[in-house]
Formats: sequence, structure tokens, C-alpha cells
Amino acid sequence: MSPKESSARPSDGVLCREPTSLMRVRDLEAVRGKTRDGVRSPDPDRILYSAYRDWLSPASSMWPSEGVWRADLVRYEGGMLEEGEPCRSMGHWNPVDQFEAFEVLSGEVVMLVMTPKGDLECFRAKPMTTWTIPSGAYHLTYAPEAAEVLNIYNAGHSQNDPGKYSRGTAPDLALRLLAGELAVVSQAADSFFGRLETFPPRNCMCDHRPLIQLLSAGDRALKAAFGCL
Ligand SMILES: [Fe+2]
Repeated sequence: MSPKESSARPSDGVLCREPTSLMRVRDLEAVRGKTRDGVRSPDPDRILYSAYRDWLSPASSMWPSEGVWRADLVRYEGGMLEEGEPCRSMGHWNPVDQFEAFEVLSGEVVMLVMTPKGDLECFRAKPMTTWTIPSGAYHLTYAPEAAEVLNIYNAGHSQNDPGKYSRGTAPDLALRLLAGELAVVSQAADSFFGRLETFPPRNCMCDHRPLIQLLSAGDRALKAAFGCL
């Protein structure tokens, strides 16, 4: 399915029709300078993804606290970077009081998640898959092929999160192509760490309620979807 053939589209309500930011390899390098991974690319202007912040209008909510739920769309260009690394997001640690869920609208991604306790999960996700991020977890999205990903999260009324990429050091793990297969590697040791899991994410929202619907369903539905009822 191409990015233009998304399975879940709102008939209206799309607020942001142009990208609010384009992330390029050089932006990733700036983040990497603060983290452990140091892969370099010969094409610093290559676009990794286009972000549509507030793709849908923010939805007011009283749960989990007074504030808004935001919905961002990210369009990944896909393909491989240097040294067998797929196109990727920057990766960041979530605030412990933030609830966040993801849904693939088109294409396929691989997400690496590590909880504050060090539990690791790395899984493939296709359209019709929605999942939540554990409290305070690190997450990073890889896109070996072009893909569109929608995510929703609770936030204050300000869109800015200046600490997003400096909240903690990135885990010493990355997805790499090894002998023709994607695998999780330890970068410091330059060695194989584990296989890429192919089963659904542990925190899968298995009834697959599209996030677009969930967002408009109100506080009680959100609370149930995050397992807080
Ligand atoms: Fe996040």
C-alpha cells in the first residue's frame, strides 16, 4: 500500500495539510552528537521524514489531566542509510506522565521500545496495528520502506517540548541489516544483540480501533484504550 492509499483517513478534520518540519540526515546527526550512535551519511540533505504536527485538531480532554490530545502524522521516505541502518526517526524518551499510541496508516515500520527498567521490544507493524508506549519508555521508529504513521499523545496546551531529544541517553541498540536480515545490534560492542520480533507488539490495542476514531470518542474511550479503566 502506498502512502497515498492509507487505510484510515478522516473524512474531514485534517488541520495540517503541509509538513510542519522536514527531518534530514543532518538533523539526525545533530541528535546523535548527544547520544551514543555515531553513524555518518554522505548525504546530509537527504530527507528522512516529513512531520505534520497537529495533523488533526487538538482534542480537549480532562483525562489524564486537563489538557489536550494531539495527533501527529509522520511520512517516512523509507530506504536504507549508511551501514545497513534503515531510515528512522530521532528516537526519544517519553515523559513518565505521557500516554502515547501509534498506528501505521500505510507501509510498514519497525519500532524499537525500551522501558525505563531496560525491557526491550523490537517489532514490525503494518496497517491495522495500533499500540501504546509504556510509561516513560524510549521509542524509535525505523522505516525500511515508505510509510505513514499516526500517533496521538496527551500534552499541555503548548506544542513545544524542548527536552524531547535530551531527556536521556539513547539505548546502545540499533536496527541494522546483518547478512540480509534486519536485527538488533549493540553499537558499542558492534555485535548481534537479538532477532527482530515478528509477532504483534506487547502493548497492541488488539481490537484495532483507528486512532482517529479513538480521539473523537472522548475521555472514557481513551482511558479504556490505555488500560486505565
Ligand atoms: Fe513519544
